[in-house]
Amino acid sequence: MTISIKTASDIEGMRIAGRLASEVLDYLTPFVQVGVTTNRLDQLAHDYITQVQEAIPAPLNYSPGGYSPYPKSICTSVNHVVCHGIPNDKELKKGDTLNIDITVIKDGWHGDTSRMFHLGEVSIQAKRLSKLTYEAMWHGILKVKPGATVGDIGAAIQRFAEPQGLTIVREFCGHGIGRGFHEEPQILHYGRPGTLETLKEGMIFTIEPMINAGKRDIKDMPDGWTIVTKDRSLSAQWEHTVLVTATGYEVLTLSAGSPPPPDFVVSTTT
Ligand code: MF3
Ligand code: CO
Ligand code: CO
Repeated sequence: MTISIKTASDIEGMRIAGRLASEVLDYLTPFVQVGVTTNRLDQLAHDYITQVQEAIPAPLNYSPGGYSPYPKSICTSVNHVVCHGIPNDKELKKGDTLNIDITVIKDGWHGDTSRMFHLGEVSIQAKRLSKLTYEAMWHGILKVKPGATVGDIGAAIQRFAEPQGLTIVREFCGHGIGRGFHEEPQILHYGRPGTLETLKEGMIFTIEPMINAGKRDIKDMPDGWTIVTKDRSLSAQWEHTVLVTATGYEVLTLSAGSPPPPDFVVSTTT
């Protein structure tokens, strides 16, 4: 298998799917309040995606090899949940951190993005972890340009995160994306500069570091999907879908409610 290069018309489709995925997060934001359940957020997102966007929630019934079909339309990962948290009927409480991960399919194209949310006042450590994970994602994005390598992205994330005492989850990675949800290449969030695949104009992939406050080890829960930190330390994640352009990168999963890039991102996002 090889890494697909998207044509101009493919990229048009991916821009739309990416924006829609981000707009689902915008839509959910006012509902993310102490006392809401993740099932309610799932239902709101499902209805918005299917009825307003006339798109498809990609997670629903997604069943890659060896996995049982994913039962919901979004992923909601609370506190020490690393990723793939399944929405449920438990109310979110003050101090919780939440990652909402949205993937929509529009006209056959996938857009995949996630953000962190804070329920009321959260601990200083939790705020720091979310902020540094956001910055880590952007350090990876800034490496994206033709001729750079997948290893450059991982190395940038690792060199930023680990000296701050944070750990990077190794078992899950970013991924190529297009007509498929998970395509080649794998985008590791650690690594060595100059290694792995060389980036070319027209490639599209996600960068989605999962970063822990404690040890990097994870554990699978019996539901077959939910991943937690083994030491129950907090975990954070942010995700964007990114296009390799002639001169650098274009983030496809932006919308009115996207948080601005960190201050160290000096150029525009295109
Ligand atoms: N959106 C996740 C990712 O970033 C994948 C979720 S798979 C699901 O790759 F089935 F759990 F939704
Ligand atoms: Co993804
Ligand atoms: Co995702």
